[in-house]
Amino acid sequence: MAKFSYIDLFAGIGGFHQAADSFGGKCVFASEIDAEAKRAYAANYGLTPDDDITKIPNDEIPDHDALFAGFPCQPFSIIGNRLGFDDIRGTLFFEIARILEAKKPRLFMLENVKQLSRHDEGKTFRTILGTLENLGYKVYWSVLNALDFGLPQKRERTIIVGFLDHKACFSFPADKTIGKIEDVLQPESEVDQKYFASEHIVQKRLAKHKSECHPSIWHENKSGNISSYPYSCALRAGASYNYLLVNGRRRLTPREMLRLQGFPDSFKIVCNDGQTRKQAGNAVPVNMVKAVLKEALEALAEIESPQRKKAV
Ligand SMILES: C[S@@+](CC[C@H](N)C(=O)[O-])C[C@H]1O[C@@H](n2cnc3c(N)ncnc32)[C@H](O)[C@@H]1O
Repeated sequence: MAKFSYIDLFAGIGGFHQAADSFGGKCVFASEIDAEAKRAYAANYGLTPDDDITKIPNDEIPDHDALFAGFPCQPFSIIGNRLGFDDIRGTLFFEIARILEAKKPRLFMLENVKQLSRHDEGKTFRTILGTLENLGYKVYWSVLNALDFGLPQKRERTIIVGFLDHKACFSFPADKTIGKIEDVLQPESEVDQKYFASEHIVQKRLAKHKSECHPSIWHENKSGNISSYPYSCALRAGASYNYLLVNGRRRLTPREMLRLQGFPDSFKIVCNDGQTRKQAGNAVPVNMVKAVLKEALEALAEIESPQRKKAV
């Protein structure tokens, strides 16, 4: 039997879904606008997400215990800092707020870029936190790095967690697990030739950079400077395919990108390379969500039976 029900908004390829199901969650509704992401989601979870969330009324969304959403960051028009729905209407965050107001799930977890707290001089974040609190939630937030959760990817993300019950006593996970790039990379013998850079590109990089570690991920920034580390910098949905090279020689495969985000190898790749790269770059790191969700579910369990000691 499912331990909790949840909805997956801005679902992408289901980073939240992967994490929630590992704790016995049951997805009762998902929404995603991108046709290819929907196809990948359906192939992997047997549930086709509904389309544009702005078009889905509250009464078509089932009741649920938890709401998950990695939402796009947009500026708000702040009218006198009122922190009401007037300020956020027309933004995708509004969709989260109106569903929280209508459904009042016990728990939510939201994900966004690290810069969210500084966006528009902090006004966006103040509005978000104020709106969530005005809806009756006890809200916690932190910037977490995938590198601390067993994934060899420097990916810093703002995570916001909210509890309807103010007795909830939550803290973000403190334990760090360092991931190894070796565990993510496929043996070169298994990697298709199409992923290897041309000799010209390899030599151009070698002329500029010598790596101190092996294996390593080489990263070329916008000004053409190259650095390499035993981990990847953040995967990005829209970035040029060439900015990351394994050992300065080849691109990451779609499977390696999914592994960098914590998706298991049982995740079926049904879209082409370009789409899968975009999907992996958009996803939330599964291990990060798992670690936070574990603490959040423990906090909920403690409310229900206060004598219960934290399992970890
Ligand atoms: C940052 S990604 C979230 C990825 C997801 N957390 C994952 O693990 O794959 C945001 C997603 O929101 C989707 N999106 C944008 N606007 C939307 C809308 N109006 N309704 C539903 N989905 C939307 C995008 O297509 C994109 O896949």
